[in-house]
Amino acid sequence: MSKIEVKNLTKRFSDKLVLDNISLKIEEGEIFGLLGPNGAGKSTLINLIIGLIKADNGDVIVGGHSISKEPIKVREQIGVVPQEIALFESLNARDNLEYWGGLYGLKGEKLKERIDEAIKIAGLEDNLKKKVKTYSGGMKRRLNVVAAMMHHPEILIMDEPTVGVDPQSRNHIFQVVKEMNKNHNATIIYTSHYMEEVEHLCSNIFILDLGKEVAFGTKEQLKRMVQDDKVFRIKATGDLNSLMFSLKKNSKIRGIEKESDGLKIITSADLNLNEVLNEIQTSNLQIKNLGIDEPSLEEVFLTLTGKKLRDGEE
Ligand SMILES: Nc1ncnc2c1ncn2[C@@H]1O[C@H](COP(=O)(O)OP(=O)(O)OP(=O)(O)O)[C@@H](O)[C@H]1O
Ligand SMILES: [Mg+2]
Repeated sequence: MSKIEVKNLTKRFSDKLVLDNISLKIEEGEIFGLLGPNGAGKSTLINLIIGLIKADNGDVIVGGHSISKEPIKVREQIGVVPQEIALFESLNARDNLEYWGGLYGLKGEKLKERIDEAIKIAGLEDNLKKKVKTYSGGMKRRLNVVAAMMHHPEILIMDEPTVGVDPQSRNHIFQVVKEMNKNHNATIIYTSHYMEEVEHLCSNIFILDLGKEVAFGTKEQLKRMVQDDKVFRIKATGDLNSLMFSLKKNSKIRGIEKESDGLKIITSADLNLNEVLNEIQTSNLQIKNLGIDEPSLEEVFLTLTGKKLRDGEE
C-alpha cells in the first residue's frame, strides 16, 4: 500500500478549474518532488492532502486513512512547512517552537526536549533569544522547517521551503530533508519551482501545470521522454579519425560529428558507456575532457508544455 494516494482530485475556485483530475501515489520513505510554475496548483494540492480545503471530486488516502472520512488520523501523520512563513515575529525561536510543539500536543519534558532538538537541527543555537523579526529570511525559513517536524511526523510536506533563502540556509534545509528521510524514513513531499532542487533531492517527480499532470517519473524517465539519444562529448588531441572509424562499427552509435577540439558522439539510449570508454582507451588520444549532455528538467518542461518553468501564471 502506498503511503499517500491521491485519487482523481479535482478542485475549482468559483468557475476556475485549479486541479484537474490529479492522481498520484507516493511510497513510504520516498522524497517526492512536486514541480510546477506559479499558479500550477501545488499549494492547492497540498491543502487538499491535509484537508485544509475540500475537493470537488476525489479523495486522498494517507497511511490507509481517507482525508474526507478520517481527517484527524491523516493529520496526525503529517508535518507541513507552509509556503508563507508562519511565525510570531515578536517572539524568539524558543517561544515560537513552544507554540508549535503545543499545537502538536507536546508538553512538559518532551516539549523541552523537542524544542532543543529543533533549535539544534535549525542551527539557531546562537540566536535563541533574539526576536524572529531580527532574523534573516534564511533563518526564518529554517525555523519554519523545524517547527513542522517537532512531533516527528512520518510525512513531511514542504511547500517551496527555499524561496527567498540564502545559499547557506538552502543547503542547510537540503541537509535536514535528507536526514529526516534517511534517519527517520520520513516520506517527504518537496514542492518547488526550482527544477535543480527537485532534481537533486527527489526520486520521483510529478510535474504540474495549470492544474494538469504534465509528466511523472524518475528524473531519468522524464529526461528520456524528451531525448531518446545519449550525447557524449570528448575533448582530445591526437588521431581522432581512427577513433571515429572504430566507433562507427558499433551499431548503437547513431552519429559522430567532429568538433573544434574533439568529437560529439550520438548513441542510442541503451548504449553502455563502457563500450565507448574501451574504444577511447585503446585509441592513444590525449583526453582532456569527457562529458555527457543531458537535458535538464527545465528542457523537459519546455518541451512538454511549450513554456518556461519560471514564466509564472498564464
Ligand atoms: N482561495 C483561492 N481562491 C481563488 N483562487 C485561488 C485560491 N487559491 C488558489 N487559487 C488559484 O488557484 C491557482 C493555483 O494556485 P496555487 O496557489 O495552488 O498554485 P501554486 O502552484 O502553489 O503557485 P505558487 O508557485 O505561486 O505558490 C492559481 O490560479 C490561484 O490564483
Ligand atoms: Mg504555492
